[in-house]
Amino acid sequence: MTSPILVTGGTGNLGRHVVPLLHAAGRDVRVLSRHLHDNSEGIEHYAVDLNNSDRLQDAIRGVDTILHLAGGPKGDDKITQNLVRAAKKAGGVQHIVHISVIGTYTMPLGWFRVQLEAEKAITESGIPWTMLRAAQFHDIVWSMAEKMSKMPVVPVPGLQFQPVDSREVAARLVELTLGRPAGLVPALAGPKVYPLGDLLRSYLHSQGKRRPLMPMRMPGKAGNAYRAGENLALKNNDIGKRTWEAFVAERSAA
Ligand SMILES: NC(=O)c1ccc[n+]([C@@H]2O[C@H](COP(=O)([O-])OP(=O)(O)OC[C@H]3O[C@@H](n4cnc5c(N)ncnc54)[C@H](OP(=O)(O)O)[C@@H]3O)[C@@H](O)[C@H]2O)c1
Repeated sequence: MTSPILVTGGTGNLGRHVVPLLHAAGRDVRVLSRHLHDNSEGIEHYAVDLNNSDRLQDAIRGVDTILHLAGGPKGDDKITQNLVRAAKKAGGVQHIVHISVIGTYTMPLGWFRVQLEAEKAITESGIPWTMLRAAQFHDIVWSMAEKMSKMPVVPVPGLQFQPVDSREVAARLVELTLGRPAGLVPALAGPKVYPLGDLLRSYLHSQGKRRPLMPMRMPGKAGNAYRAGENLALKNNDIGKRTWEAFVAERSAA
């Protein structure tokens, strides 16, 4: 009998796609998030805050593979360190798969630095690991456009993004989770690079909204890094198929 796979953050954007795929592959799944959800056949939920490791041992007991997706605007370094500590204590974990983001080594912004610390917690854990860095998901670009377009005039720094479909990232993560530890694998980004202004325009068009866009220059090291394309996957990486346009069409029809 195979042991269950623990998916942290299995109720999030990405997790919602990953969990059914793992289940369809014949694996029992333990889903960890802070809020309790109903169990279903082969899918057991654990309401555990990774900041507070009390119940973490229960979720990890008997697990040999962990897919670590849990994350948020801050504290991803701490929760990953807690997870690794608990996995080492449990003893039986033989593979941790981690989703990270393109630019951890090169983007001079606090959030990316925290992601780098989270990566280090995994790579220095002594537990065999696999790491996939992905570009921004379509869903997150959509939420960003939604928030920005609440302003009467939308400032548009000259940034570029290469958004990727979270379902494609999920499918790749499932493949990696069911495989052997592979270390750092090629990053995964979307099929096209878009200036932020284009992404905003297509969002606004899909919603029947009009807003003046005001181009601006992002100052400092972060602006330079974005202009240099440090958040993009331009070569030696995996490229998804689903475009932003296809995502927008589907999302606005829904
Ligand atoms: N979104 C992107 O564009 C993008 C790109 C590259 C990489 N990533 C990485 O992919 C991962 C998943 O992204 P996502 O878009 O699916 O995020 P999401 O929709 O915000 O989901 C986050 C998940 O983590 C759980 N969670 C958050 N804090 C937790 C804590 N302290 N303890 C336990 N569970 C916690 C959430 O559930 P509860 O709220 O119920 O706890 C939820 O299940 C993140 O680590 C992110 O850094 C995201």
